[in-house]
Amino acid sequence: MTIRGPMTLASIEAEAGLGTAIEAGPARVIEVIRESGMKGRGGAGFPTGLKWELAAAAPGERRYVVCNADEGEPGTFKDRVILSEWPDLVFEGMTIAGYAIGAEEGVVYLRAEYTYLRDRLEECLGRRRNANLLGAGVMGNEGFDFDIHIHMGSGAYVCGEETALLESLEGKRGEPRNRPPFPVSTGLHGLPTTVNNVETFAWAAAILANGVEWFKGIGTDGSTGPKLLSISGDVERPGVYEFPMGVTIRDLLAAAGGEEAKAVVVGGASGRCVPAAEFSRGICYEDVATGGAVIVIGPDRDLLDVAENFMEFFVDESCGQCTPCRVGNVKILNGIRMLKRGECSTGYLQELCDLGSTMQVASKCGLGQSSPNVFLSIVEHHRSEILDRAAAAV
Ligand SMILES: Cc1cc2nc3c(=O)[nH]c(=O)nc-3n(C[C@H](O)[C@H](O)[C@H](O)COP(=O)(O)O)c2cc1C
Ligand code: SF4
Repeated sequence: MTIRGPMTLASIEAEAGLGTAIEAGPARVIEVIRESGMKGRGGAGFPTGLKWELAAAAPGERRYVVCNADEGEPGTFKDRVILSEWPDLVFEGMTIAGYAIGAEEGVVYLRAEYTYLRDRLEECLGRRRNANLLGAGVMGNEGFDFDIHIHMGSGAYVCGEETALLESLEGKRGEPRNRPPFPVSTGLHGLPTTVNNVETFAWAAAILANGVEWFKGIGTDGSTGPKLLSISGDVERPGVYEFPMGVTIRDLLAAAGGEEAKAVVVGGASGRCVPAAEFSRGICYEDVATGGAVIVIGPDRDLLDVAENFMEFFVDESCGQCTPCRVGNVKILNGIRMLKRGECSTGYLQELCDLGSTMQVASKCGLGQSSPNVFLSIVEHHRSEILDRAAAAV
């Protein structure tokens, strides 16, 4: 997949972050990540420093660092690029996390479709062990033992949800757990665990290497640092881009050649559909958040086709544990098909929207809580287009 433009991750000095971390000590590493203001790059935007602090403080005889490399969100492919281009930086970030929280074991949960990356990643891990960057006494520091292994994912979107991922890692069916308790206290094998996105680990290493002020100088007050975005859909130049957090949708469309777009789905299938009238909005946690997916919808696209496509995905990927998600996704999908055939009254459309809102609050995990988002935002911003389309189908 094409990398578009210069990438900061390519310029980070190897092992500078790990060296600084070991000099500073675990408590200071957590403070640095807190001070950087970094929020996790997996989508939910939880502050990384706080997550590490909670995992370090939770009682447990062992701790774990887990790298979420499941990257199942439709429209997201930036972690694949990071793992292909800068695997050392990801492993360095995981080692720093291990040092900070007092873990001896790290696991990369690698998306099943990324099996082709495994040999290169194993080779990189082997090189790091030979260079004493992993294993007993990392970088000659007695008492700091840390190693990483790779676990292949199970091919299910829901296994990217951190608690389903942990179940899958334990050899069980990949179904989300009730939260609380959260993985920071009750994670892998019931022990304190930090689960972070691939990109989060890479930026953690970069922060330790380049300093807090450098990171805070990029982005917005509430969303610091740079962000990698996977831009796809109706654009001239799809690919992986780096922007400062807060970049407007208009600016990223200009970079990718998608100025004619009528809408942009930010956050993938579980994100939301932003209409052209709102392209001055920013990509950041205080405005329109995304783990990395930006799907551009060209002027000739039928938005009901877009919504139908995403809902088919969720009907397939729902784990079926809870009723709002298991049944709700099917109902919304059928409703979209009725709309396309001109068989859905405005009253029933409202019932579907109410159902979507119920799913957002009543589903057990983020999958069902977010699966109606794109449909709801399309109805909110393009109601007349949808109803005209429905009327024309009769
Ligand atoms: C259905 C679903 C799928 C998810 N898939 C991923 C994924 O592929 N990669 C990822 O990093 N986070 C994914 N997440 C978010 C994780 O649960 C978790 O918030 C994230 O790994 C935390 O990392 P961060 O704090 O570094 O962002 C998913 C969440 C849900 C609800
Ligand atoms: S919301 Fe969906 S994916 Fe999540 S637990 Fe319920 S049925 Fe499973």
